[in-house]
Amino acid sequence: MTALPPTAPVAVIGAGTMGAGIAQVAAAAGHPVLLFDLRAEAPAAAKAGIGKALDRVVAKGRMTEADRDALLGRVTPVTDLAALAPAKLAIEAVLEDLAVKQAVFRDLEAVTADDAILATNTSSLSITAIAAGLSRPANLVGMHFFNPVPLMALVEVIHGLATDPAVVETIHDTAAAWSKAPVRATSTPGFIVNRVARPFYGEALRLLDEGAADPATIDAALTGAGGFRMGPFALMDLIGHDVNYAVTCSVFDAFSGDPRYRPSLRQKALVDAGFLGRKSGRGFYDHGEGAAPLRPALADPAPPPAGVVIEGDLGPAQGLAQRIAESGLTSGRAEGDGTLVVEGAVLALTDGRSATQRAADAGLKDLVLFDLALDYGTATHIAVAAADQAAPAARTAAVGLFQALGFQVLVVDDAPGLLVMRTVAMLANEGAEAVHLGVTDAPGVDTAMMKGVNYPRGPLAWADAIGPARVLAVLDNLAAVYGEDRYRASALLRRRVAAGRAFHV
Ligand SMILES: NC(=O)c1ccc[n+]([C@@H]2O[C@H](COP(=O)([O-])OP(=O)(O)OC[C@H]3O[C@@H](n4cnc5c(N)ncnc54)[C@H](O)[C@@H]3O)[C@@H](O)[C@H]2O)c1
Repeated sequence: MTALPPTAPVAVIGAGTMGAGIAQVAAAAGHPVLLFDLRAEAPAAAKAGIGKALDRVVAKGRMTEADRDALLGRVTPVTDLAALAPAKLAIEAVLEDLAVKQAVFRDLEAVTADDAILATNTSSLSITAIAAGLSRPANLVGMHFFNPVPLMALVEVIHGLATDPAVVETIHDTAAAWSKAPVRATSTPGFIVNRVARPFYGEALRLLDEGAADPATIDAALTGAGGFRMGPFALMDLIGHDVNYAVTCSVFDAFSGDPRYRPSLRQKALVDAGFLGRKSGRGFYDHGEGAAPLRPALADPAPPPAGVVIEGDLGPAQGLAQRIAESGLTSGRAEGDGTLVVEGAVLALTDGRSATQRAADAGLKDLVLFDLALDYGTATHIAVAAADQAAPAARTAAVGLFQALGFQVLVVDDAPGLLVMRTVAMLANEGAEAVHLGVTDAPGVDTAMMKGVNYPRGPLAWADAIGPARVLAVLDNLAAVYGEDRYRASALLRRRVAAGRAFHV
């Protein structure tokens, strides 16, 4: 354990949203904290803000008044950079601008001791580039917190080309001592979270562009079936389209225009229009006072089927068998390749082909595909799509079955990979690629996505649960449909499938 001792003074430069949170967390761990900002009044205001936040914690009975006072007593607002001299660790959380950050670190090098660690909370700039031009670039490390800092456990600990490995270890262990979940990453575009999360937004926007479903329906699928805390459109509205679009553009540019990260014209239009989301009152949703909430497109009630036959092993959708058993519907078992047969219609989990294509491939007509769920036993929603050549009764039978099982059935177009499977396959692929390129390891990907953005399951653990071969099939089928490099599978995913191995051993 090489964590900084709690007696070591910590400087925080930039007393905005992130700086205030970082100061609070460092002080909670016992460090004396020196809080500085270019705006002379900001550090004191940030300290007052921390005090208000702690008052709420005290009111809830989760902190004593004495502990609050002691924590606040450790935070010292300073208006002179020279006052940061005693700091053993200086964490920068100023404007997201390379030249500004480089200037801040040059100033910090001049006032702090030679062995002081310099950390940046940048979300998108290269640690290597920030360190260039410093006299002690080995001392600079990325320490990327997530908003709100006191609540979000993840800290990405990022090493640039020049960073001393011992500095990385100290910051890793210090973050752990601050009750955070540190994950090591190399300085690559988007680090872990902002890279692996791109498809969560990108596929949703793409599905909307293709008319697969509207934002409320896609959000309902990702939350009600996928188990995500927020749907992608609600989340983009919360983050702000200006911020989300800028991150997408910066990752796209940094990867020299790789189509996997291509920004959405639709999101650019929102930015151009000033429809930035919650903060401007309008984004994909209308956040104005009294605005009618958008509702997902739900199928009309359909009669329950007379019975259902489970053919073969349902694989990842195994939870449906239990739900069928509990529903009281007449059910039977037969040999087969993991499908449900309801009133002559065949229901199957999507494999990345459209229902229309898969029906044609199988020489079937009445095929209805359903989407992935995190847990079929507890999912509240499910998206289904019928093949174009299916009789209307086939779709009605599928809707009737899922409604009889207690699902809200979402009406979507015959989108290849549907909504949740497509998103999860792309998230897992991006996670695999990050591991393949040495950004982090498989536990690093999964911890980052669960602790930094509250994913219900790490994308690689999810791929293991679905089966890496099934994820690869989804991606290969999507690549075949679209003929696009965007859906190319990671070489590491192919290797895992060829070896019959999971991402987590
Ligand atoms: N807001 C987020 O969700 C989030 C999450 C992770 C990382 N970040 C990163 O953290 C950093 C800060 O973001 P924020 O949201 O707290 O911004 P903010 O605008 O709330 O705060 C920035 C503060 O830095 C001060 N400042 C600007 N230039 C300065 C300088 N040269 N010296 C000292 N202080 C200076 C400003 O006066 C302001 O108080 C950025 O690099 C951002 O990319 C933000």
